[in-house]
Amino acid sequence: MEKILVLDFGGQYNQLIARRVRDNGVYAEILPYTVSLETIKKKNYKGIIFTGGPNSVFEMSSPHYTKKILEIGVPVLGICYGCQLVAWMAGGTVETPVTGEYGKIELTAEKSVLFKDIPEKSIVWMSHTDRIAKLPKGFEVIASTEDCPCAAMQDSEKNIFAVQFHPEVTHSEYGKAVLHNFLYEICQCSGDWQMDNFIEATVRKLKEQIGSKNVILGLSGGVDSSVAAALLSKAVGRQLTCVFVDQGLMRKDEGDFVEQTFTSLFDMNFVRVNCAAQFLEKLKGITDPEQKRKIIGTEFFNVFWNEIRKQQDKGYFAQGTIYPDCIESGKGDADVIKTHHNRVNLPEDVEFLGVIEPLADLFKDEVRSVGEKLGIPKELVWRQPFPGPGLGVRIIGEITAEKISILQEADWVLRDEMAKNGYEKNLSQFFCVLPGVKTVGVMGDHRTYENLVAIRAVTTDDFMTADWARIPFDILAKVSNRITNEVKGVNRVVYDITSKPPGTVEWE
Ligand code: XMP
Repeated sequence: MEKILVLDFGGQYNQLIARRVRDNGVYAEILPYTVSLETIKKKNYKGIIFTGGPNSVFEMSSPHYTKKILEIGVPVLGICYGCQLVAWMAGGTVETPVTGEYGKIELTAEKSVLFKDIPEKSIVWMSHTDRIAKLPKGFEVIASTEDCPCAAMQDSEKNIFAVQFHPEVTHSEYGKAVLHNFLYEICQCSGDWQMDNFIEATVRKLKEQIGSKNVILGLSGGVDSSVAAALLSKAVGRQLTCVFVDQGLMRKDEGDFVEQTFTSLFDMNFVRVNCAAQFLEKLKGITDPEQKRKIIGTEFFNVFWNEIRKQQDKGYFAQGTIYPDCIESGKGDADVIKTHHNRVNLPEDVEFLGVIEPLADLFKDEVRSVGEKLGIPKELVWRQPFPGPGLGVRIIGEITAEKISILQEADWVLRDEMAKNGYEKNLSQFFCVLPGVKTVGVMGDHRTYENLVAIRAVTTDDFMTADWARIPFDILAKVSNRITNEVKGVNRVVYDITSKPPGTVEWE
């Protein structure tokens, strides 16, 4: 398989660069700048991309790399900090001008293979303070902006290119084309990273690795574990056992839907552990959010591992870990690896032949694409994020069976109404919350004293920040009307108009 190396110097768009390369049909992997040149040479990359980063090349503490990397005969593309680094390494100079360039800027491109089929004038996304002052020997300017005389440069003999702008962000009008040109015109890639190939190769690899042994997977009904289950099922069929813990805190009918999907569409052993009563017992009287989360998490793993202990002939343990969970940070400390909240620690008394992570090379959008190709229903493949503690963090105060039921019904109405109006695609996440507040109302001629339900809906790119969604009033009116009419025990509905920050997406 053809591979591109994204050499990580700590920039915020590093994963995006790798995703964009893969969108162009070429596999890209991210390694921190601390990786040795020997390792890089051994991996036979078709090209190397230096990422951006928050530093100045002048500072001794900034991430640098041996300039020998420019001599190994592999094409290089430097982006932003990576662009300045190429200049610095190759013997040019970098300066800090009075003003930097931030946001959308007009670029004037000259004739270069990197800008093939791109108009002379186009908009690019800039975010830099430093800039190239003097070109290194052998380089020529191939683009400029009003404030940046060298916005891109090349050494066409050595196939080394550098752009001050960010081709990986969508604000750069022809960014995708720039990356495409680098991959296909300069690195001579053929584009063999396709999800059909991935499925075929992974199934073959899983068959070889697992042989006649068994494999156990914890299935949550989320996208990653569902796609891992489908891949493993395709590879080894009934040698796969999926353990699905239903703690009673999922959305209405969700447990049944997951069971039905995997037992009817895929060949496997499916074990559903229903333990709602056990969870409710543990949560009795608990109101503190952190304590609730802790109890739900601990109890989940107790139930899960107890079920695993019962399984004879365990064989391998599989997990739905995906690529972003595995990437080492390039922020300067090579020992620090991102905390893998999706990777499970195995208890000491449970032994397996090994751990299998069939999705460890994939980004989320690739996981979804594989899921669709394997025939997983759209509702599961495009499922919104759902917190591990489930509805437990959407019921404020003590969790009871009655409150779970009210919340499930209200949430179902909201989802049904969004689907009927085709409004789901405009939202990143939406759900109902039961704030644990009762209010006075009037129904018919009677005074009521019932529950308040809150609707939460957000739009976001990354869930680190989020805006409350501007759902049209007539849809909100319909939802409110239906919830108060159809859900027993609710007489008032409010809409949460808080962004993140200062709020969080979930209420607890
Ligand atoms: P917050 O509430 O932190 O949520 O703004 C950001 C995103 O994370 C989801 N979330 C969780 N996901 N386990 C998870 O797997 C959790 O404990 C958890 N808490 C929040 C939340 O739904 C939103 O998508």
